[in-house]
Amino acid sequence: MAASADELVLYCSVQEEWCRLMAESFQRETGVNVLMTRRSSGETFAQLMAERDQPRGDVWWGGTGDPHLQAAEEGLTAVYESPMLAELQDWAVSQATASGNRTVGIYAGALGFGFNTEMVDDPTPACWADLLDARFADDIQVANPNSSGTAYTLLATLVQIMGEDEAFEFLGQLDDNISQYTQSGAAPIRNAATGETAIGIVFMHDAVAQAVQGAPIAAVAPCEGTGYEIGSMSLVEGGPNPDNARAFYDWALSADAQALGAEANSFQVPSNRNAAVPPESPSLDQITLIDYDFATFGSSDMRQHLLSRWDAEIGARR
Ligand code: G6P
Repeated sequence: MAASADELVLYCSVQEEWCRLMAESFQRETGVNVLMTRRSSGETFAQLMAERDQPRGDVWWGGTGDPHLQAAEEGLTAVYESPMLAELQDWAVSQATASGNRTVGIYAGALGFGFNTEMVDDPTPACWADLLDARFADDIQVANPNSSGTAYTLLATLVQIMGEDEAFEFLGQLDDNISQYTQSGAAPIRNAATGETAIGIVFMHDAVAQAVQGAPIAAVAPCEGTGYEIGSMSLVEGGPNPDNARAFYDWALSADAQALGAEANSFQVPSNRNAAVPPESPSLDQITLIDYDFATFGSSDMRQHLLSRWDAEIGARR
């Protein structure tokens, strides 16, 4: 490889279509050759851990905020105070503040579930508790929280709503209705769109994305209240192309770059205050959101604790 190669190694944790559009657009605007790989949030965190002595990535863009906060705590990601912070929503800046500027919010979205309207009869499920109904036996999918940030958000949300022991009790009962724990967070709703499963527990915007494309999917904001993500971005500590990494970071926080989400069929709420919120985006002020404790549930101790307990009590049943 030429020593002068102008490259950026991008680890991307949103939907493939949006990852590709971000990579291509940055490459077109700057001439920097972007090498992009898409992996789920928990998988990317594990990759950064595995590469910590010889970092290969430059930017981790997208995916739920909790593993980004954990990466910050572990020193896997670099301190950077972007001039673009001034244009961001408070919830996006709070990720930066909580991590000593090692991560930042790029979008937000509420957790919920979606169901196939041709497969689910009335009364349609409206609450987390409804998912325990025996009529949904083997007809619900959710991801594995080790690989998926979406599924970790579910775990942390239930713990915050119910208390930890009650949340694991609930997940144990829910397990009777789960046909498969997928690797990626949004896979369950793609599978519901094709009729492979009736219900997928996903971020609501992922359910909306299927409906917008014409699939018979309805999105639900659970009646008990629900958690949400602050989708985040971090620079890899010691990555090979730090200047290009910072250029991508500033660009990705701009209103123009954030408008690419809707073009790629992704309906999160953008973090730049000047970026238009896509009309399809589930409106966060009309959903009962819990006061999600990102500091606690994004900490290394808590994430490791909840994932080991999930492996022992839920994963081990498979
Ligand atoms: C989907 C959602 C994103 C979320 C991501 C997490 O792509 O649209 O908002 O951040 O899933 O992915 P994961 O596979 O880690 O659950």
